[in-house]
Amino acid sequence: MRVPLIAGNWKMNTTVSEAVELVKEMLPELDRIDNVDKVICPPFVSLAAIKELLKGSTIKLGAQNLYFEEKGAYTGEISPLMLAELCEFVIIGHSERRQYFNETIEIVDKKVQAALKVGLTPILCIGETLEENEAGKTEEILTRQLSSPSARLYYLGGSILAYEPIWAIGTGRAASGGQANDTIGFIRQHIAQQHGQGIAQEVRILYGGSVTANNIAEFINQPEIDGALVGGASLKASEFLSIVRQTSEIKGRLSEES
Ligand code: PGA
Repeated sequence: MRVPLIAGNWKMNTTVSEAVELVKEMLPELDRIDNVDKVICPPFVSLAAIKELLKGSTIKLGAQNLYFEEKGAYTGEISPLMLAELCEFVIIGHSERRQYFNETIEIVDKKVQAALKVGLTPILCIGETLEENEAGKTEEILTRQLSSPSARLYYLGGSILAYEPIWAIGTGRAASGGQANDTIGFIRQHIAQQHGQGIAQEVRILYGGSVTANNIAEFINQPEIDGALVGGASLKASEFLSIVRQTSEIKGRLSEES
């Protein structure tokens, strides 16, 4: 049974003091919820302060991006080595980075490898645009995004995948639970074909895109969906707590039934 995971992607929101406040608001209750991995991904500048706050807790910390070189003359970039001292997870290949910062499949691949090299766990985001979806190209796009020759290493290194249909991100128009389950099932099947059933059954695949406290149950009740990457709703303590609590309860019940 795969342990469910909920990750909060705060994107470019919160100053350091706001980030600290938000963590303090969630911490006591979030810390107590079990049977689910809880990860928060604040902006880089808040990682050090939040790391201190989370010491001794069950909540894990992630970054939202990295550069693939270890160090050097790359003004403004953040390296995997720097992050490895601060956090355990890193979101890679988010559609906003592919779209606004020209991250290609090759760049994303280099970033995943660089993260794994220093022991960070990548949360690799994949997903199709509305146009691609309507043209029936979803499976083709996802297959291409997972086609790196080193993909096997991704899974052996414990990477997590997040299926985020771009048309569902920040739009309030989430996929349906059934739709997301089918697509994630396709991704798992693709991984099984390429790398074997063992790896496919172990990899955790999240859904992301307009997840809220109101719709999380619809996703978590699906057998293929191992959790969620939550954007906007992770910025409100009560909403994020409710998402994590429901995930713990529902997956707990499903595992008892199976
Ligand atoms: P959203 O973002 O929940 O605000 O749609 C999800 C994401 O981009 O990871």
